[in-house]
Amino acid sequence: MEIKSHVSLREYTTFKIGGEAEYFSVVTNLDELKESAKFALDKNLTVTILGGGSNVLVADEGVSGLVILNQLSGISYEEVAGEIIATVSSGVMLDDLVADTVAKEYWGMENLSHIPGTVGATPVQNVGAYGVEVSDLIVSVDTFNLKTLTIKKFSNTECNFSYRDSLFKNDEAKNLFITAVSYRLSKKANPKINYKDLQVLFGETNPSQRDIRQAVIKIRSNKFPDWSKLGTAGSFFKNPIISRFKAIELIKMYPDLPVYPVDEDAVKISLSWFLDKVLNLRGYTIGPVGTFEKHVLVVVNQNGNASDVKKFAKYVSDLVLEKLGIELEWEVTQLPCD
Ligand code: EPU
Repeated sequence: MEIKSHVSLREYTTFKIGGEAEYFSVVTNLDELKESAKFALDKNLTVTILGGGSNVLVADEGVSGLVILNQLSGISYEEVAGEIIATVSSGVMLDDLVADTVAKEYWGMENLSHIPGTVGATPVQNVGAYGVEVSDLIVSVDTFNLKTLTIKKFSNTECNFSYRDSLFKNDEAKNLFITAVSYRLSKKANPKINYKDLQVLFGETNPSQRDIRQAVIKIRSNKFPDWSKLGTAGSFFKNPIISRFKAIELIKMYPDLPVYPVDEDAVKISLSWFLDKVLNLRGYTIGPVGTFEKHVLVVVNQNGNASDVKKFAKYVSDLVLEKLGIELEWEVTQLPCD
């Protein structure tokens, strides 16, 4: 395995933005991962992990230390007490896994079709779409500690999942490299079609897994840009989670604002709806960066850089703060991390 220096990260991100990695390695197995970790320890380098690069904004100044590109591969299935446990190396592309589970008729992941990125990213930000979050399916997450060179398995509960969040986003997990994820799947049909877009399509019918995958792919291709043509990282901001009390105030002002329950004290509001229907920001651009014309939460980049994206994000955040009194959180991760 070769450890290179001064490698441009731009092409490794779907935003098509970013400076150079000081050092860069590509790991395809656990031995290479160990070798990379030791290299970083010897030189006292910070390590940054890159998977599909589909949810990151890399700084124009680049990333100091070692960037490890995760290409660990392999999927295995085991039948345990009538359930299927899929154990998947973290460098596998999520959509390759979803396609494989649909081909094998193992139910559970079909609603997560066509999401870019790797399996390793799924527990980090509790990836979710069209009514399914990976926290509904994850049994355990295998990790390798880049500082102590030890392994540890986390159970679902230990992962501390919530909306687009988990233990793996915390400081205490900053040295953990996720090596594999196990998901619980089922041979029994279990269509999840409550999400509005799927409900409209399927109503009271009983779609097959293949039908659901095809429908999600169609919905996504109508809402998201072609990742090979336009730089983007998908949804840019998180949907805000606010108190029920605050939501009542907002609904008085905006009766059509979509609101989803989270727990007894909090609700999630649709930022997309607000940015589009109230602020009229769909297709709005500042220089090379703007919102996608078919989906306002998707920020697109046409030959801009990270500072253009940050400028645009600040413009949107300031507007939302002024109108709603809510501080937006980025859904996209900045590299290097603060
Ligand atoms: N809407 C608008 N205008 C738009 C887009 C949406 O008014 O331009 C309205 C829709 O009509 C709908 C509501 O906003 O009533 C929600 O839209 P959508 O179903 O597309 O969901 P979202 O909240 O914008 C979230 C996730 C997506 C995920 C979809 C589907 C976040 C930050 N984003 O988007 O995840 O695919 O739900 O489940 O939670 C991602 O994380 O990168 C991502 C794409």
